[in-house]
Amino acid sequence: MRILGLCISLWFGSVLAACSPLPDSQAPSQNTAADHKPPRQVLIVYSGNTLGELKPCGCAKEEDQGGIERRMGYLNSVVPKESNLLLVDLGDNFKESTRQGRIKARYLMAAMSEMGYDAVTLGDRDLLYGNEFLKKQDSIPWLASNMELEGMNPPRTRIKTFDDGLRVAVLAVADPNLFYVSDHGGLTMQDPAEAVKHLLPEIERTEHPDLVLLLSHMEREKALKLLDLDGVDVVINGHIENESDQIDMQPVVRGHKIFMQAAPLGQKMGELRVLIDGGNKKIFQQRMVRLDSKIPDDKKMTALHDAYDQEIEALFFETLKAKRTKDRTQVYATESTCKTCHAAAHETWEGTRHAHAYATLKAVNKSFDPECLQCHTTGFEKPGGFISEIDTPELKNVQCEMCHGPRLDHSQAPQGGFAPEARQACSQCHVRKHSPNFNYKTYWPKIQH
Ligand code: HEC
Ligand code: HEC
Ligand code: HEC
Ligand code: HEC
Repeated sequence: MRILGLCISLWFGSVLAACSPLPDSQAPSQNTAADHKPPRQVLIVYSGNTLGELKPCGCAKEEDQGGIERRMGYLNSVVPKESNLLLVDLGDNFKESTRQGRIKARYLMAAMSEMGYDAVTLGDRDLLYGNEFLKKQDSIPWLASNMELEGMNPPRTRIKTFDDGLRVAVLAVADPNLFYVSDHGGLTMQDPAEAVKHLLPEIERTEHPDLVLLLSHMEREKALKLLDLDGVDVVINGHIENESDQIDMQPVVRGHKIFMQAAPLGQKMGELRVLIDGGNKKIFQQRMVRLDSKIPDDKKMTALHDAYDQEIEALFFETLKAKRTKDRTQVYATESTCKTCHAAAHETWEGTRHAHAYATLKAVNKSFDPECLQCHTTGFEKPGGFISEIDTPELKNVQCEMCHGPRLDHSQAPQGGFAPEARQACSQCHVRKHSPNFNYKTYWPKIQH
C-alpha cells in the first residue's frame, strides 16, 4: 500500500499507469533482497524540437509559448524541489543555415549550457552547421549511441547516479534515414535498435541501472517500436519537419514501459515522474507544462536574449550597405499613391492592423529583425521592397501591394482584372504559427474594402 500513498501525496495531474492498488505490489514478493529497497523516484524533464526558437514572436496569444527565458524560469521553480531530476533534450535545436540561424544557434547553446542538461540528443537539424560548430559547444552533454562524428566522439551512454543511489542509464539513437549522410563529412551511423541491443547488456552488467531511458530521434511510428526492446523502460522521441509540424504528444503506456514525444518549438516542457518500488516495478505519471506568460522570465536569459537582439541589429545595419547599392528600380507605387484614386479603400485600410504592423515591431524592439520584417512590411527582401525605416519609410506596414501585388504600372495606367488574386495573398503571412485562428471567412470582413 506504500505505492498508493505515494501516488496520492506526491503526484499531481493525470495518472497514466495504475495508481490504484497494484495487484503485483500487494502480493507477497519473492524478491526479498529488492524488497528492502525503499521506493524511489526520478523526475525526467524533457525539451526538444526547438528549431532555434529563442523567444516566441508574440504574433498570436495561443502560440505565445516557449523561449529560453521561460524555459529557465520553469527550471528555476522545479530544480530546487526535486532531489532526483534528469534534464534531457531530444534534438533538432537548429533551423536554417543562414547567418541569423547560426547566431541563434550559438545563443541557444549558451542558454542550454546554463540550464544544466544531462543529455542532449543529436538530431538531423543539429548537424546543420557541421562538426566544427558542434565541437565548440563543449559544455553541451551530447549523447549519440548509434553515431560516430569525426573529431567529436560524443559518448554512447550516460549514467546518472543520484544521492539516494538511484541509477539511470541514458542512451540516444537517431534514424540514419533522416541524415543526408553525404552532406555531413565524418558521420557514420548504425541501426538504432541494433546499437541499443549491443550496448544494453554491457551497461546492465557493469552499471546496474534502476531505469533505462532511451532518447530517440525519428518518426513516431519507428520510435514506438523501440519500446519493445528488452531492458528499455522509457522512450522519449523527438524530430520536427518544420515549424508548422503537428506533433502527437499523447503518451503510450505498454505494461511497465512508456513512450512520449517532445513538444514542438520548445513550447512545452515534458515531465515524466517515474516511481520505482522495492521490486523495481515502475509507475509513470506524465504531463506537459506550457511555457506561457504565466511562467516568469529568467533575468539571465533575458540578458542573453538582449545580447542576441543586439547582434542581429548589428548584422541588419551591416547588410544595409549591400542592399542600398543593389538595383532599386521602383515597382511599388506605395499606399499614398493608391490613395489618390481609391480614397475609400485607403480609409478602410488605415483603420486595420495592417496599417500599423511596423509600429507593432517597434513596440517590441524588433524593427531590425529580418524574421519579423518579412510579414510586417511591404516587399522586404524583394526587388524594390522595404529596406529600412531610414531608406524606405514609404514601404512600412502591410500595404495594398502586399495583397494586390506590385502595381506601379496600374497606378500609372489603371486597368482592372487582378482583384480576385488578392484572396490568395493572406496565406503568405497568416500561417498557423503566426495566426492560428486565421479563417478567410471571419478575417476578410474585418478588412473588407
Ligand atoms: C509569417 C508572417 C509573420 C512573421 C514572420 C512575423 N509575424 Fe507578427 N504577426 C503576423 C500576423 C499574421 C499577425 C496577426 C495574427 C492574428 O491576429 O491572427 C501578427 C501579429 C503580431 C503581433 C501582435 C500584434 C497585436 O497587436 O496583437 C506582434 C507583437 C507581432 N506580430 C510581432 C512579431 C515579431 C516580434 C516577429 C518576429 C520575431 C513577427 N511578428 C514575425 C505575421 C508574422
Ligand atoms: C504581408 C503579410 C500579410 C498579408 C499578405 C496579410 N496579412 Fe493580415 N496581418 C498581417 C500582420 C503582420 C497583422 C498584424 C498587424 C499588427 O497588429 O501589427 C495582420 C492582421 C490581420 C488582421 C487583424 C486580426 C485581428 O484579429 O484584428 C486581419 C483581420 C487580417 N490580418 C486579415 C488578412 C486577410 C483577410 C488577408 C488576405 C486577404 C491578409 N490579412 C493578408 C500580415 C499580413
Ligand atoms: C490584406 C490584403 C489586402 C490589402 C492590404 C488591401 N487589399 Fe484591396 N482587396 C483585397 C481583397 C482580398 C479584395 C477582394 C477580392 C475579391 O474578393 O474580389 C480586395 C479588393 C480591392 C478592390 C476592389 C474592390 C471592388 O469593389 O471590387 C480595390 C479597389 C482594392 N482592393 C484596393 C486596395 C487599396 C487601395 C489598398 C490599400 C490602401 C488595398 N486594397 C489593400 C485585399 C487587400
Ligand atoms: C490613377 C488612379 C489609380 C491609381 C493611382 C490606382 N488605381 Fe487602382 N484602379 C483605378 C481604376 C480606374 C480602376 C478600375 C479599372 C478597371 O476596372 O478597368 C482601378 C481598379 C483597381 C482594382 C480592382 C481591380 C479589378 O480586378 O477590378 C484594384 C484591386 C486596384 N485598383 C488596386 C490599386 C492599388 C493597390 C493601387 C496602388 C498601388 C492602385 N489601385 C492605384 C485607378 C487607380
